[in-house]
Amino acid sequence: MGQGTNDIGMMGLAVMGRNLALNIADKGFKVAAFNRTSSVTDEFVVSLGPEQQIQPTYSIEEFAKSLAKPRRAMIMVKAGAAVDAVIDSLTPYLEPGDIVIDGGNSHYTDTNRRNQALAEKGIHFLGVGISGGEAGARNGPSIMPGGQKEAYEAARPIFEAVAARAGDAPCTAYLGPRSAGHYVKMVHNGIEYGVMQLIAETYALLKAVLGKSNQELADIYASWNDAELNSYLVEITSHIFRRRDEGGKSYLVDEILGEAEQLGTGMWTSQSAMDLHVPVPGIDIAVAMRSLSALEAQRKAAQSFLGPAYVPHPTDDETLSVEHIRRALYAGMIMTYAQGFAQLRVASNKLEYQLSLDDVARVWRGGCIIRAALLAGVERAFGGAPDLGNLLLDSEMAARVAERRKDLVRVAKAGASSGVPIPGLMTSLGYLDSFRAGWLPLNLVQAQRDYFGAHTYRRVDREGVFHTEWTGE
Ligand code: 6PG
Repeated sequence: MGQGTNDIGMMGLAVMGRNLALNIADKGFKVAAFNRTSSVTDEFVVSLGPEQQIQPTYSIEEFAKSLAKPRRAMIMVKAGAAVDAVIDSLTPYLEPGDIVIDGGNSHYTDTNRRNQALAEKGIHFLGVGISGGEAGARNGPSIMPGGQKEAYEAARPIFEAVAARAGDAPCTAYLGPRSAGHYVKMVHNGIEYGVMQLIAETYALLKAVLGKSNQELADIYASWNDAELNSYLVEITSHIFRRRDEGGKSYLVDEILGEAEQLGTGMWTSQSAMDLHVPVPGIDIAVAMRSLSALEAQRKAAQSFLGPAYVPHPTDDETLSVEHIRRALYAGMIMTYAQGFAQLRVASNKLEYQLSLDDVARVWRGGCIIRAALLAGVERAFGGAPDLGNLLLDSEMAARVAERRKDLVRVAKAGASSGVPIPGLMTSLGYLDSFRAGWLPLNLVQAQRDYFGAHTYRRVDREGVFHTEWTGE
């Protein structure tokens, strides 16, 4: 068997791998396909039309031999041990200069480890975040590559051909070395968690305080999606409220158990932010709320001690309107993105990714789950000030938030008085007020630390480090 001519190989033919392979083949590239279970490969290939340039392969050796050199082998398997297993089985058939591409949601530290281990063999490793779900993989995802620049250049024509477009620009760019791509995808998912939580809270207010029906909710989110809140997540929310359950008697959303699961990327974002000392409370609270959603038995038991949430007759919510909620959501969304980008700014420095944050904003403008009209403003802000530490330091983005503070206050009051839990929106308000506060009461925390632990403190009026004997005389 001579060396093959396939432009790329796809290992792992679950729905993401299949759809990406089909998308790549549609763009005129020759694709080899491999799955550990041969029947999956067969079933996939049988489903293809005769014009598809996808070659089934049934051993890793056959797969590797079918690829043109330098080989480009893409792995689309579940993040974790399976990725290592696939890499281990593949590397004996690779040579220096070949490129392994991991398109899953791998933890960035795993990507660093794999990049280094393969580099020692002269093999390149690209850790590539891919967002957009099944439909995105098939029709145009957002692609976030990191790794060796020369390996990226070799894969670039494929990435650019298959990625979504925002205007004329493909939603992909070289993001940086090692795990830069997977880190950016992780923060993408953290923002995804934060925005989903905020939207869920607006649903709670619209339903429980304003008494909106599912049909009305569908119309409200659809109209929101037509203006500044235009985004994939708001759009799909309007679709969800229209969907009837099988048989048509009820709405499907009302039949879904309110316990949100998580694969881990939101939690990883919070964990890394904590390590980096970057405040991302909107993401933290979203992760926490998923965990709290799982404690249904405790929450129900607590009602006998704490009284129920959702007080039926709110006393001072007469003036809460759909418009207040819409504007509060927009402010909360901006601050969720602000937190994610602030994390990327610090991570880029500490982990030496040299991220260009306007590129990140552009890559996220199409194809991905957090695509949103507001990213145009984010791209502009970082394009004009690449070192901007926080989006709220951009005058235009800050003005959009500041103008909506009163809406956040209105919504927070309504949530508090009616017992509707909206910790994400309340956290947005807390973040806004903290971020603009010249003074925070943390001088007291320093005094307490010094009191009980002699941890010392600094003073506002002179240089140096001080300790006080707080007890005694
Ligand atoms: C995407 C999604 C995708 C996946 C999430 C779900 O960008 O296409 O984010 O990666 O659907 O990982 O995450 P949870 O299961 O943790 O909600």
